[in-house]
Amino acid sequence: MKDKVLVVGGGGREHAIVAALLRSDAYVYAVMKNKNPGIARAAKDFKLARETDVDKVVDFAVSKGVELAIIGPESPLEVGLSDALRGKGIGCVGPSRSAARLETSKSYARELLQRHGVPGNLGFRSFDNAEDAKNHLAGIGYEVAVKPVGLTGGKGVKVQGEHLRTIAEVEGYIDEIFEKNIGGAGVVLEEKAEGEEFTMQAFCDGKSVVPMPLVQDHKRAYDGDVGPNTGGMGSYTDSDHLLPFVQKDERDIAEAILGKVISSMAKEGTPYQGVIYGQFMLTKEGPKVIEFNARFGDPEAMNVLTILDSDLTDIAWRISEGTLSKGKIDFLRKATVCKYVVPEGYGTVPRAGLPIQVDERAITDLGAASYYAAVDEVDGRVLTSTSRSVGVVGVADTIDDAERMCESALKYVKGEALFVRHDIGTKQLVDRRVVHMDSIRRGTR
Ligand code: AMP
Ligand code: GLY
Repeated sequence: MKDKVLVVGGGGREHAIVAALLRSDAYVYAVMKNKNPGIARAAKDFKLARETDVDKVVDFAVSKGVELAIIGPESPLEVGLSDALRGKGIGCVGPSRSAARLETSKSYARELLQRHGVPGNLGFRSFDNAEDAKNHLAGIGYEVAVKPVGLTGGKGVKVQGEHLRTIAEVEGYIDEIFEKNIGGAGVVLEEKAEGEEFTMQAFCDGKSVVPMPLVQDHKRAYDGDVGPNTGGMGSYTDSDHLLPFVQKDERDIAEAILGKVISSMAKEGTPYQGVIYGQFMLTKEGPKVIEFNARFGDPEAMNVLTILDSDLTDIAWRISEGTLSKGKIDFLRKATVCKYVVPEGYGTVPRAGLPIQVDERAITDLGAASYYAAVDEVDGRVLTSTSRSVGVVGVADTIDDAERMCESALKYVKGEALFVRHDIGTKQLVDRRVVHMDSIRRGTR
């Protein structure tokens, strides 16, 4: 009997999860708010509904006899979908509402690190009013990242010296967060870390942590790392599962930090079962925590799941049953480059509702992969929305070759008013990261 697995979410990340589940011979059921054509086609059945509509998702899962669920995005975690599914005896890859605070509350995450002396924390303070935050700023002695406490879809953080040029702009943004109630729960002022960012994702069963290959995402909308922050424009991994600017001992520190977070949460009675995502800044002093997410990254999921060489259904069972340490999890020793095709204006004023075509067969024939994201299939046509449209992943022995494959594959995605960050994964950009990190290490920056 095949396992019946529910996937919640309709983006590129979830399409990649579904593709990995199909390789492991599961029956996939899906709940998503948009009709993602890749997921719709692969699923035995699907329901179009808001992923945060806990009752609808649970009813659908129960009616289909689903045994196991993988929750893609953070918003259903925040409203307790995993608790509700577990309440019906359905195993879940996705932390409880309480454990998901690691992502849903930036102050919870920082305070957890502080309480348990987990290395990699940054100076921070949370505020529930603008006046106190602005007063604190006056004597702080370092540049800050200004973060709404709650969820903002990855777009709420502004960094001094980058998005915020002057103290007046920093103060203005603090005011705006409170006036517009962005993130809904106050503001965190955090020490600005300088270096290169990398992502470490890991599977967790409440006790054990099994890390995946390191990934570097690109948040800025435009070539050369300029423009507004987005959910992520594309990402790459290397065949040794490190990154060209990250050394093995630095990676191991990140793994130790994730391990300590998971053991601290278990000690506090909030065991964490799901995928943990650590966003790190590699600084002169080593990796520092920028944030945690309580799920796979998007686009990062597309990189790692494309080269997952173990059975995802089996991994999901082991996460939900607390038996992750029984058995290995392997990823191919390949490099990947993922670039997102997005609507023009994504990050500011996107042009939505236009048709897009993907020649999936031609892309597969190249050895690459494509994943539909926030598109909607209507009357046989695939239409863009205001968010990211299609992720394309090249896979090869080197980042350089994977980048070239990704570019060849991108030619098979056609449509009007589309945009891609073509610099992601290019030798030029990767080399720049290495040079930047070397100068940070030497303290010449
Ligand atoms: P987040 O949503 O927390 O991942 O923040 C979005 C982006 O803002 C990150 O990917 C970083 O580039 C930047 N950022 C966040 N926090 C800091 C920090 N403490 N120091 C420097 N940059 C930061
Ligand atoms: N790529 C960043 C995220 O998934 O939040």
